[in-house]
Formats: sequence, structure tokens, C-alpha cells
Amino acid sequence: MPNYRGSATLRPMSDLSNKHIVLGLSGGIACYKAAELCRALVKEGATVQVVMTEAAAQFVTPVTLQALSNNPVYVSQWDSREPNNMAHINLTRHAHAMLVAPASADFMAKLLHGRADDLLSLMCLARPTETVPLLLAPAMNREMWAHPATQRNMAQLRQDGATVLGVGQGDQACGEVGDGRMLEPDELLYALTALFQPKVLQGKRVLISAGPTFEAIDPVRGITNLSSGKMGFALARAAHEAGALVQVVAGPVSLATPYGVSRTDVRSALDMHAAVMAQVEHADVFIATAAVADWRVAQVAGEKIKKGSDGLPNLDWVENPDILAGVAASTRAQSGDLYCVGFAAETQYLQAQAQAKRTRKGVPLMVGNLGPATFGQDDNALLVIDEAGVTEWPRASKLSLARQLVADIAVRISAKETP
Ligand code: CTP
Repeated sequence: MPNYRGSATLRPMSDLSNKHIVLGLSGGIACYKAAELCRALVKEGATVQVVMTEAAAQFVTPVTLQALSNNPVYVSQWDSREPNNMAHINLTRHAHAMLVAPASADFMAKLLHGRADDLLSLMCLARPTETVPLLLAPAMNREMWAHPATQRNMAQLRQDGATVLGVGQGDQACGEVGDGRMLEPDELLYALTALFQPKVLQGKRVLISAGPTFEAIDPVRGITNLSSGKMGFALARAAHEAGALVQVVAGPVSLATPYGVSRTDVRSALDMHAAVMAQVEHADVFIATAAVADWRVAQVAGEKIKKGSDGLPNLDWVENPDILAGVAASTRAQSGDLYCVGFAAETQYLQAQAQAKRTRKGVPLMVGNLGPATFGQDDNALLVIDEAGVTEWPRASKLSLARQLVADIAVRISAKETP
């Protein structure tokens, strides 16, 4: 029997369970996206209190938002439904966060001056700043966005403690093209979810290799493997949520880049090796989740190899560099400035193979998983192996396991940093 040291807890609840979110809408066509965001927040388990400016109510109706949030919507500071007539106090005291989406240029200019002549701005000013963080999702025409007044206002709002989110780029409702679109509902949902994750890797730089590699044989063929990259991308998201600056080097995968994460796309093991080596000197943590092909053909054919009378093609193979072992042997890793984590994908004898791999590659932490049971799946089960032994982490979503692993790595790093 393996020497398991207990098991990590699962996360049975949705990400925003028990969270009370005030969703504010100021005037702008992006209000239609706020309706979708409201629905997504409720689906994630949040209770949502919608507050709209009169301008916002020109774009979508309070009826729509009431139906989606399942709560009465407030527009006026004179709303007599509140027994003490103090909606600006009552609606902010139990909130876990306020998100204004869309935040118009005018609304941000107003906040900047501490003006409070409508319910939403009044609430932004009256909220307890220590316990109710304020997030602003700007949305406006590209010229309004680029105007020095808007940029100045946003810088000042950040200094005053608000989190001013970025904007999207592309076609605008006015017909122009450029910066200023409100972030999409899933990006805003992500920003709120990340807000509640502990910042255990704040400011750390994390490099992650992810996905398979593709080793060409000729211009139309090659060898690859079934890795989907999902575990690596889940780790990228979890590390970013934890406050890290995250860079992913991804083999050929069809996954969206997690919000806030930088990405370099590569194809072959040699490309991945070069990209990792170019970036690893800036990293504090290297997590190698990629399923790197062990071999490549010595000579890639310039033209398609034809089926013919010569029998089966004669391919010579050479071994690819071991990226993880190379990084783990570097001076920075050896001196403790870079923490390396490997992933062992096996089909049998998982514990023994992963333990041997940890020693062979010279890494402090090796995470073992069964390839066929995890490739392409949204969940996984892990063996976490260090010099002290093995811990079994039962099957859970990859994001949940990624968050646990990020927390675990943070503890290990801080134990090394604390003399
Ligand atoms: N790895 C790497 N470069 C390689 C091969 C593997 O960086 N050329 C890393 C993987 O990203 C992973 C760990 O080494 O973190 C183990 O990878 P795995 O494919 O399980 O093992 P291999 O070293 O390839 O050994 P084998 O194929 O014999 O199981």
C-alpha cells in the first residue's frame, strides 16, 4: 500500500457560493452584456443586487435585471421601499464586492470627485472600503477611452483603491473599431472569482509548459499525443488568481488563454525547449505539465513521403532534450531561486514511476497522474510526491486541483524563503 499522507479537501461549492455581489450599471450600450453577466453570477451561486443609473435604464429595463437576479432592482436614492429610506447604506453593508459594469466615462469622472447625486455613485462612496472592494469595468467609444481625461481619471481611481479592469478591443456599437469595449461577461465573472482567491503567489513569476508537442515527419504528418493542455491551463488560471504573473508555453492545443495570462504557442519539443529556456531565467516557479514527445525524426522529409514500392518508410529517431531536467539542473534551480514541479503521465505503476521520475529529473515535487484517465478530461486525480513521501489527491475538477496545487507550492516556497 502506498504511504499516503491524507487527502486534500474537495471544493463542492460553486466559486461564488455565499457571495453577495452588488452589480451596478451605468449608461452605455454594454448594459446588454451586464444582463448576461447577472445571469452568470447567479449561476455561479452568488446573490446579486442590481443597482442602475437612470441612464442605464434607457438601455435595458430594471424588469430584465430583476428577472435575472431574482431581486428587486434599485434606481433611485429616494426609493421608499427601504424602511429608513437609506438604500445607499442598506444595500452596501452586506456586500462582498461591488462591480460597476458598464462603468461609463461620465460615471468614472463623477466617482473621481466623490460626487454622489444618484444611488449608484452614492453607494460607491458610502460602501465600507475595507470590506467591499469596488471593481469598475469601463465601456465607451475608443476616442473617449483614449482621451487624457479618461486615462487620468482611471489612474486616480486606481490610486483611490478601485480596481479598474481593462477593456476589450474590436468592433464598437458606434461602428468604429478600437479599444473601449466592455470585457465579456465570462471575463468579468473571472475577475470577480479571482478577487476571492487567496493571493498566495502575489508578484511571483510562474512559467508553465502545457499540452502536447507535435514532431513533424514530413509536411503533412507527425507524431503527437493525447494531452489536451487542460491541467496546465487550469494551473495558469489558478496561479494568476493567486496573484502571480503567469507565462504559458503551449504546444498545439485548442484552449482559450485564461484571462490575464501571457502565452507563447509552440509546436515541437525543440520549439518548446527554446521558448522555456528564453523565459525561465525570469521565473520563480516552473511547472512542467507538458507531455513532451520523447523522440523526433532525425531528418524531416521536405516532401510528402509516398506509399510506394520501397516498402515501409525508414525513419531514424533522435531523442528530444529533457526540458524539465535541464531547467532543474540550472544554477538558479540548484540555488533555490527557481522552484521546479514536474508532472508524470503514466499508464501503470504510477507511484513507483513518478517517484523514480522525481529523482531522475532532480525536482523537489513531482505530480503523478494516469494519462488515459486524464487526457482531455475536465477532472483528474493526483499523487503528489516529495522527498517525504506521497499524498493522494482524489478525483476533482482540474481547476480545483490546480488551486490546491498552487496553494501547496506557495507553502513550499515560503518555507524555503523563511530561514
Ligand atoms: N518533460 C520535459 N521534457 C521532455 C520530457 C518530459 O520537460 N523531453 C517533463 C514533462 O513536462 C513532465 C515530466 O518531464 O513534467 C515527465 O514527463 P513524462 O512524459 O511523464 O516522462 P518522460 O521523461 O518523457 O519519461 P517516459 O516517457 O519514459 O515516461
